[in-house]
Amino acid sequence: MQAPVIAPSILSADFARLGEEVDNVLSSGADWVHFDVMDNHYVPNLTIGPLVCEALRSHGVTAPIDVHLMVSPVDRLIGDFVEAGASCITFHPEATEHVDRSLQLVRDAGLMSGLVFNPATPLHLLDHVMDKVDIILLMSVNPGFGGQAFIPHTLDKLRAVRQRIDQSGHAIRLEVDGGVKVDNIGQIAAAGADTFVAGSAIFNARSKDDANGYDSVISQFKESIASAG
Ligand code: DX5
Ligand code: ZN
Repeated sequence: MQAPVIAPSILSADFARLGEEVDNVLSSGADWVHFDVMDNHYVPNLTIGPLVCEALRSHGVTAPIDVHLMVSPVDRLIGDFVEAGASCITFHPEATEHVDRSLQLVRDAGLMSGLVFNPATPLHLLDHVMDKVDIILLMSVNPGFGGQAFIPHTLDKLRAVRQRIDQSGHAIRLEVDGGVKVDNIGQIAAAGADTFVAGSAIFNARSKDDANGYDSVISQFKESIASAG
């Protein structure tokens, strides 16, 4: 298993102060920045694109930016996000015509590539691409919105993917996204995840009275992951 990564989803950040928000979660111990791209077509919501990714890089963000594409089609945006400074690009296999080609586009640009599985998406789509993914991302909610409840069946699916990864012999990250909180992250880690996206759990910890809200959630996450291992 690889070292755990905490990836705050900026979907729940204060967009009017995005640069500062990202600086704050990173200085509070976050490892990656999770960047949710929604197109009002593949998912019923509309968010941010390559210009915002580029703006974070110009602002001085050097941490990995983990771009989660919830868009269809996929391929044209891959090039735009490569240019914009993304580090990882994950996409939903049912949103692209040619999964192998899209993965290859990401890898050829030198970025980490990944496939994302919705709660009802079967895992057999991994069968012929285990050597072409750096990340397998399991959605533990239906994509489109922050703040939804974790779907418990994801734990079984995580265990199944963990087995596939271990059997493959490849260094593939197992990422989970949706409803990750302080009270369930230990179970999620025990089921085999090593990369944890959390939006509302982290950004809702911000309050006027608690300047250290982010530190405290992120350190509780890390403690629970360590004791699950
Ligand atoms: C949902 C997004 C998630 C979302 C997670 O489609 O992919 O990254 O921001 O938010 P929480 O952690 O609030 O469930
Ligand atoms: Zn996401």
